[in-house]
Amino acid sequence: MLKIPRHVAIIMDGNGRWAQQRKKHRTFGHKAGVEAVRASVAFARETGIDSLTLFAFSSENWKRPKDEVSILMELFSLVLKSEVKKLNKNDIKFKVIGDITGFDKKLQTKIAEAEALTANNQSLTLNIAANYGGRWDIINAAKTIMSKVAASELSIDKIDEECFEQHISTQGLPELDLLIRTGGDHRVSNFLLWQCAYAEFYFTETLWPDFNKEMFQQAVDDFAQRQRRFGQTGEQIMTQDIEPKVC
Ligand code: IPE
Ligand code: IPE
Ligand code: MG
Repeated sequence: MLKIPRHVAIIMDGNGRWAQQRKKHRTFGHKAGVEAVRASVAFARETGIDSLTLFAFSSENWKRPKDEVSILMELFSLVLKSEVKKLNKNDIKFKVIGDITGFDKKLQTKIAEAEALTANNQSLTLNIAANYGGRWDIINAAKTIMSKVAASELSIDKIDEECFEQHISTQGLPELDLLIRTGGDHRVSNFLLWQCAYAEFYFTETLWPDFNKEMFQQAVDDFAQRQRRFGQTGEQIMTQDIEPKVC
């Protein structure tokens, strides 16, 4: 049986270059990228992937020109409005991970409403990483843990990987299995740093707006061929039926 990753994350990169190749403004590429998001969500839902985490806006992307940032915010808001009902109808749970306090109040309310509407859905969890940074995620978890220690709700000797997992933004989701990056660069750009520990990486030159179901399938097929050893030897893995858990 083919191994299907339970949790896939995607760094959706290359929108700007896609637009520039067509002599258009970078924001044209962001708009075109929405179709690739729809296709990826549909593919994940059809394939039986449990969780899909999409990197939409990093904590560093605020450094971009003001007009690009505002178009991205507008687009996020519009897509949220137009897609949430459909997500709900397809039994998809929607969640935003990242520091949403950085967004305007209206957008924060829309996010909260979308999360509440879809909270009980079970066929797929769709996490949108917005104003997200992997370092922020780790610091945020550390802060929550420290405040529990200060309030005597948690003792220091209970802080281990499992405890940390429960305070990180992806808590409750399966371990990250596969990280895809489009756009040809081979870096993590402060995405899921904690969660990447044993993820398989898949890089493609394809620019995000050109990404589609067939390409997602290729990444999943590639994943299925890999031997994940989690520190053990290849021989040990061959004699096991089930792969060991990371921690
Ligand atoms: C990714 O595409 C989308 C966001 C970061 C919001 P880019 O806008 O980074 O596209 P390139 O990398 O400049 O082509
Ligand atoms: C990563 O892409 C962030 C998103 C895809 C949202 P960037 O384009 O911001 O990454 P760098 O700057 O090339 O590392
Ligand atoms: Mg980029």
